[in-house]
Amino acid sequence: MNRILKKRWLAENVVELEIEAPEAVRNARPGQFVILRVDEEGERVPFTICDMDRERGSITLLVQTVGYSTARLAALNEGDFVHDFTAPLGNATDLDGYSRVLLVGGGIGTAVIFPQAKHLREIGKPADVVVGARNKSLLMYEEEFRRQAGSLFLITDDGSSGRKGFVTDVVRELISRPDSPYDVVFAVGPLPMMRAVCEVTRPFGLRTIVSMNSIMVDGTGMCGGCRLTVGGQVRYACVHGPEFDGHQVDFEEAINRSGMYREQEQAHYCRLKEGKI
Ligand SMILES: Cc1cc2nc3c(=O)[nH]c(=O)nc-3n(C[C@H](O)[C@H](O)[C@H](O)COP(=O)(O)OP(=O)(O)OC[C@H]3O[C@@H](n4cnc5c(N)ncnc54)[C@H](O)[C@@H]3O)c2cc1C
Ligand code: FES
Repeated sequence: MNRILKKRWLAENVVELEIEAPEAVRNARPGQFVILRVDEEGERVPFTICDMDRERGSITLLVQTVGYSTARLAALNEGDFVHDFTAPLGNATDLDGYSRVLLVGGGIGTAVIFPQAKHLREIGKPADVVVGARNKSLLMYEEEFRRQAGSLFLITDDGSSGRKGFVTDVVRELISRPDSPYDVVFAVGPLPMMRAVCEVTRPFGLRTIVSMNSIMVDGTGMCGGCRLTVGGQVRYACVHGPEFDGHQVDFEEAINRSGMYREQEQAHYCRLKEGKI
């Protein structure tokens, strides 16, 4: 059982939870994720480690409420416990070898790029950061990114904060400059957004890494739930990823697979809202 130390709503459907996890935080690194169960009957749900505090023995998660388990988790309060917590899982991100990194986060993808921004600042290579959201109320961690980023570019679909448009607009502009300094783009967000960023960077031959939020069950490479095709080969996001060369990912297949259980998930969520679960 792991105790919730701190809870804070960041956007209308995104909550930040600092969770006590002294064992897990000891070896955790940016890019890795946890799988937790809210209660004994709960399904196993993966979340990126957004921040960690080794002194407090805690891991911070950003949770977007999209369905049954995330709504149950977000309903917990400080002092409550999650039933179990497995971490760290997956491979850590390694952006240290690049000279100038462009981080791109869409929606809850912010959770994945934040620890990278913090780490790159710590090693003296602050990244430029593009953060996009549908509107101002869904933008999060603005102040935190200002402290960690080289330059920060905010963009919203409706222009209610930062520029109006999509993250791809900013990425295209930045990498088209004759003096563009970037040798890698790390893009995280909804699958269509990551695919769109890859299509912008592809003609420039600019290495683009994406973090695949495939449906996961065991997180240990045994169930096959998170299967992807990358460079024509079968890959499991939980053990081979979650990060992959975006230009090699079969996004068409990944998008189809991610919607496989949409009907069942919707029915489950509706029953939760009606108080029947
Ligand atoms: C490596 C990884 C890191 C992630 N990091 C975060 C994060 O930091 N913050 C965050 O809010 N979300 C994150 N997610 C997504 C999160 O796991 C899903 O939103 C969550 O499982 C949805 O559960 P639900 O019961 O609330 O919704 P459901 O109604 O079950 O599903 C809603 C949506 O979530 C997707 N989903 C459902 N079950 C899973 C699952 N087991 N694994 C992945 N996706 C699923 C479905 O395709 C569907 O589109 C991450 C996913 C992965 C694979
Ligand atoms: S989650 Fe089961 S193989 Fe990856």
